[in-house]
Amino acid sequence: SLVVSSTATQSSPPPVILSQDELKKVAAYKAVEFVESGMVVGLGTGSTAKHAVDKIAELLHSGKLKNIVGIPTSKITHEQAVSLGIPLSDLNAHPIVDLAIDGADEVDPQMNLVKGRGGSLLREKMVEAATKKFIVIVDESKLVNHLGGSGLAMPVEIVPFCWEFTLKRLEMLFIEAGCVGKLRKGGNSEEPYVTDNGNYIIDLYFKKDMGDLKDASDAILRLAGVVEHGMFIDMATTVIVAGKLGVSVTNK
Ligand code: 5RP
Repeated sequence: SLVVSSTATQSSPPPVILSQDELKKVAAYKAVEFVESGMVVGLGTGSTAKHAVDKIAELLHSGKLKNIVGIPTSKITHEQAVSLGIPLSDLNAHPIVDLAIDGADEVDPQMNLVKGRGGSLLREKMVEAATKKFIVIVDESKLVNHLGGSGLAMPVEIVPFCWEFTLKRLEMLFIEAGCVGKLRKGGNSEEPYVTDNGNYIIDLYFKKDMGDLKDASDAILRLAGVVEHGMFIDMATTVIVAGKLGVSVTNK
């Protein structure tokens, strides 16, 4: 739990303790303030983005928002939006998205992101590359100095064909950074996790800095067998962070 008012004195109201999920909700609701009637809205995936989708549905049903078209970034978000009655479409019909709201696993000081620990990086990147405004919503635990430096996974979506070969090629690209790749498994099973697109995910773990992000991105994408990676470089236009001192909105 995080404390949102750390300056409380005896005469102040007691500090409000918000759980991590409540902080995610604070960031998500703040982002939804940017949604206007008539917009085509990219609907993100994950526990933070889920709150934004809930809020958009609530505003639609209360009549405060009208004529929204949602573009879901995963099957699970599609299901959530359908269950909430949000009108949906896709990039074929709406190649330009007005605004997308999504969570992230890591956010660096330049607003570059790691995404995809929830497995939806490919559709997220397609939708978020097509949006005019991309609002990232996180609680402060997601802020890092360097992407991939937190010792946590940097996901890469690959085709299933000869995945062990692709895994080794990925490790070799970053041999000096002590990179180790692991095939993601599905839930509690020993079976590979399969993405919405029928692919696998290799999670890369780095012992040292992976170096220049753009170079790393280019090298990964040059490998045949790789579909996409979870680095979202120079894509976010706004980052909303909820933390113990309140909520901040930073524009690029
Ligand atoms: C899914 C994602 C999510 O946005 C990311 O994993 C953050 O998830 P959460 O909001 O649950 O922490 O990229 O592919």
